[in-house]
Amino acid sequence: MDPTSTIFSFLSVLLFGSTTNFNHDFPSESCHFPAIFNFGASNSDTGGYAAAFIQLQSPNGNTFFGMPAGRFCDGRLIVDFTAESLDLPFLSSYLNSLAINFSHGADFATATSTIRLPMADVVPYGHASPFYLPLQYLQFAQFKNRSQIIRRHGGIYASLMPREETFSKALYTFDIGQNDLTQSLFLNMTIVQVIAAIPDIVNHFSDIIKNLYNLGARSFWVYNTRPLGCFPKILISFPLAEKESVGCAKPYNLLAQRFNAELKNALARLRIEFPLATIVYVDLYSALYSLYTHPTKNGNKIPKDTILLLFYFSLNFLCAN
Ligand SMILES: *[C@@H]1O[C@H](CO)[C@@H](O)[C@H](O)[C@H]1NC(C)=O
Ligand SMILES: *[C@@H]1O[C@H](CO)[C@@H](O)[C@H](O)[C@H]1NC(C)=O
Ligand SMILES: *[C@@H]1O[C@H](CO)[C@@H](O)[C@H](O)[C@H]1NC(C)=O
Repeated sequence: MDPTSTIFSFLSVLLFGSTTNFNHDFPSESCHFPAIFNFGASNSDTGGYAAAFIQLQSPNGNTFFGMPAGRFCDGRLIVDFTAESLDLPFLSSYLNSLAINFSHGADFATATSTIRLPMADVVPYGHASPFYLPLQYLQFAQFKNRSQIIRRHGGIYASLMPREETFSKALYTFDIGQNDLTQSLFLNMTIVQVIAAIPDIVNHFSDIIKNLYNLGARSFWVYNTRPLGCFPKILISFPLAEKESVGCAKPYNLLAQRFNAELKNALARLRIEFPLATIVYVDLYSALYSLYTHPTKNGNKIPKDTILLLFYFSLNFLCAN
């Protein structure tokens, strides 16, 4: 079993209480999602950052695409596997102007994106993508309007745009928040300071869900944040942090857990506010953490001594092939 099918099995265990393969478990026949609109950062960026800023180099794309494919990953991302499991083509990045097809969705994610804009730290002067979540939302709102104008005009571009009814039937996926935490840490905020910012970060996230709901979105699929304390960059940057038995930095995993608990609560409140919406909280943290606690059982032996490989792996933890 390759790492990705392992992860999807985990997701299917978490979501559907089954141990069989995700591809077979995902109820695509009953759901019929005609499109995916994705919001996020590098973990689900199918070409936005690359289109806006830099052409990616090898080894990105090597194992699946045979060349850099706009993903900070040697192969496919979760969002790619999600598209495949729904029988949809890979998502074009909204920011890409070459060889796009948005009829089955669009990807608004860009690497290093945050939920809240870290004013002092934006590309090209800093590290964060300027396309933070509220801007990704505005791009979506504009896309929704203009794609329909293009469809009405007909001609060669019309077939590249989604139908109007697609927007209410589509799956809206989110994988964002990790950079709000890590970038604050790398700007030397203390863990206590970052924890204090979580309610505001999560409120901003909820606002985006509400705005999308008001534009007609109904199906939301929200990944929680990964075990940050296992990221090599965290381990290297904060070497004195207390360690868990698997070698991850405990306070940073607790920080991720705190974010996840508040995110989960916020989604529960949104479910009450919007009973017509389906809002799924996906516990990626647990699925990924289990790769550390049971690396061999999951067919994914992590070479703990290969820091570089791990660093690469942690950039896009769910990236397989
Ligand atoms: C765009 O994608 C849709 C859905 O997969 C497909 O039917 C259509 O032919 C594609 N258009 C082009 C120009 O490739
Ligand atoms: C989209 O169109 C609606 C109706 O014309 C308008 O109210 C809204 O401001 C537009 N949104 C964007 C982002 O252009
Ligand atoms: C964070 O602290 C380190 C060590 O004191 C320092 O070298 C670095 O410049 C600081 N970074 C920021 C963004 O303040």
